Amino acid sequence: MSVWAVLAAAGSGERLGADRPKAFVRLGEQPLLAESLARLDESEWIDAIVVVAPAGWEEPSILLAEELGCSKVSACVTGGATRADSVRLGVAEVPPDAAVVLVHDAARPVLDDAVIGRVVTALGEGWDGAVPALPIPDTVKRIDGERVVETLRRDELRVVQTPQAFVADVLRNALAGSEWTDCSAAVEAAGGRVRSVDGDPRLLKVTDADDLDRVAALL
Ligand code: C5P
Repeated sequence: MSVWAVLAAAGSGERLGADRPKAFVRLGEQPLLAESLARLDESEWIDAIVVVAPAGWEEPSILLAEELGCSKVSACVTGGATRADSVRLGVAEVPPDAAVVLVHDAARPVLDDAVIGRVVTALGEGWDGAVPALPIPDTVKRIDGERVVETLRRDELRVVQTPQAFVADVLRNALAGSEWTDCSAAVEAAGGRVRSVDGDPRLLKVTDADDLDRVAALL
């Protein structure tokens, strides 16, 4: 069974206010992209990797993979305008005989191998996808303008992270559809059965400059 990783790293990262795309903002001594790329490459669960790079940053992405000694990077493609487009472009590079595709955001650098194992091994037995999920400590409400219109049951809610793993054919077919905020939503909309497994609080997503400090403290 071959497992291909698609590493989405093509975001602009405007909210970081840096002079370069988020994947190339410094995290310690390396660009942010280095951490998740090296961890995917070292993972025994992963056979090959497609990096989705920001436009104009394909060459630095390939050089970085070489510098890190990554042996599993099979392709580096230019990302699209949205995350959904970038994932579609990355998945297009995955060969037809791949069994599983694992999609991960480079913006979540603290990628523990145990989480990769949890989502990959959760597939099978009729499950089309698996996502790492964490309970929500706060109460969540739906609002309309300023007015609170609904309070959601906290015990039924989870925040979802990446990496997300999918049966390759199911993901390919689902991605043909419209926009979504995560791949799992596309698979769910196509009627796929997605399982939630334990997430990891260290899988923080880097959005603004403070997040970089928080993530650096976890390395
Ligand atoms: O922008 P945001 O942090 O939500 O992006 C999540 C992940 O998706 C990041 O790793 C980012 O690089 C990636 N992305 C992408 N192509 C885009 C937008 C975001 O690969 N056009």
